[in-house]
Amino acid sequence: MSRSIRIKGLAPLNGIVSVPGDKSISHRVAMLASIASGRCEIRGFATSADCRSTLDCIKRLGVKVEEIDGRLVIHGAGLGGYQAQGGRVSLDAGNSGSTIRMLSGLLAAQPFTSVIDGDASLRRRPMRRIIEPLNLMGCGIDARQSRFPPLTIHGSPLAAIDYISPVASAQVKTCVLFAGLLASGRTTFREPAPSRNHTELMLAEFGARFDKSESDNSMSVEGGAELQPIEYRVPGDLSSASFFIAAATMLNDSKLVIRNVNLNPTRTAFINVLNGLGANVLVENLTVRHNEPVGDISVKSAALKSYKHGLIASAEAIPNLIDEIPILAVVGSQVEGRLEVRDARELRVKESDRIRSVVAAIKSLGGEIEEFEDGFAIEGPQRLRGATVESAGDHRIAMAFTIAGLVAEGTTEILDADCAAVSFPEFYELLASITPGGTLLRS
Ligand code: S3P
Repeated sequence: MSRSIRIKGLAPLNGIVSVPGDKSISHRVAMLASIASGRCEIRGFATSADCRSTLDCIKRLGVKVEEIDGRLVIHGAGLGGYQAQGGRVSLDAGNSGSTIRMLSGLLAAQPFTSVIDGDASLRRRPMRRIIEPLNLMGCGIDARQSRFPPLTIHGSPLAAIDYISPVASAQVKTCVLFAGLLASGRTTFREPAPSRNHTELMLAEFGARFDKSESDNSMSVEGGAELQPIEYRVPGDLSSASFFIAAATMLNDSKLVIRNVNLNPTRTAFINVLNGLGANVLVENLTVRHNEPVGDISVKSAALKSYKHGLIASAEAIPNLIDEIPILAVVGSQVEGRLEVRDARELRVKESDRIRSVVAAIKSLGGEIEEFEDGFAIEGPQRLRGATVESAGDHRIAMAFTIAGLVAEGTTEILDADCAAVSFPEFYELLASITPGGTLLRS
């Protein structure tokens, strides 16, 4: 039985913290290391259950993975080195859309059949977006109702394609580029709007033959080139940090520093939106590691005001804010004026229907919010009142509404709070360490 958490409202945040390793970067570095030609050493690997699913999958594919003094050592099996006894392997991606979608790109080229499945939430998530390009490359894939997990991937030699993606999804981009690493010829991927670019930056680190054209959002990878073994240090996850950034902004008398956070510009839209509303979020000690900007974030409380009608709806903005929208809705309840998020239909097919989950949770706390098919609008500032909130088994809903509980009067209870471990197992402990004693109670 998953536990709930109770939060006593109106508590400030103070202190200096680090958040666990970036989930997006960790998935990618583990998968690429698994097909590199030799020993890769990774520090700061994400503690998230999702990244654990990726590690479990690559282990089942015969890749040796060791954990030594908090470092991860992955003995890359080379481009064609995955193994499956009897020509078939069963893999469990758990709750992780990244694991199933990205790894499928590598599985598509194997000389065996892979069955990859996940939990009830993953079984509801759309897979046509990766089945289609992998079919075009020559891989047959069976799926439930042609579009949902489990996927049965009949690995075969792949041919390069030039693919125009209908969705701005970094998972789809990564799937196709990963398949391209194992295909014959040069695979090109074109996206309708720029999505997070960790894959591109990391392919360069591993020495892949890769190039990118910024002018038309296209990129190409040459198949068949060995990947070099690397050492990699994963920075902290900005999407995890965003819950603390939002809380410290909204709660009076807060002062917080979050060290060593990834600040890739394809991920920082949330900070830009907050600062646009008058927040006090500063970046310090900025440096670059493995082509990724990394720095410390310092936050002080601020009064927020929505200028120019607060409309966030561009095809460019949404992909780089997508995981932060639940916490942005909570922020919206405390902003003076209206905040409207549109063009965000993708939220309907995340770990839960996040538009529905956010709307239900705000209403549970006595707030008012307008639901659209592709987003929501919220007008603040609102007085939220402590109540019971359903997490919908969705980690980002559980964490966003724990923060709402800090802003609300009285006591808030989040049901199935443990699902936060999907991305951030240390979330409640860390939050307890920067809020006054007794603010968070386990039950
Ligand atoms: C991710 C991309 C996003 C994001 C997910 C992680 C990634 O999904 O929501 O949490 O690491 O590439 P989509 O690519 O489906 O938009």
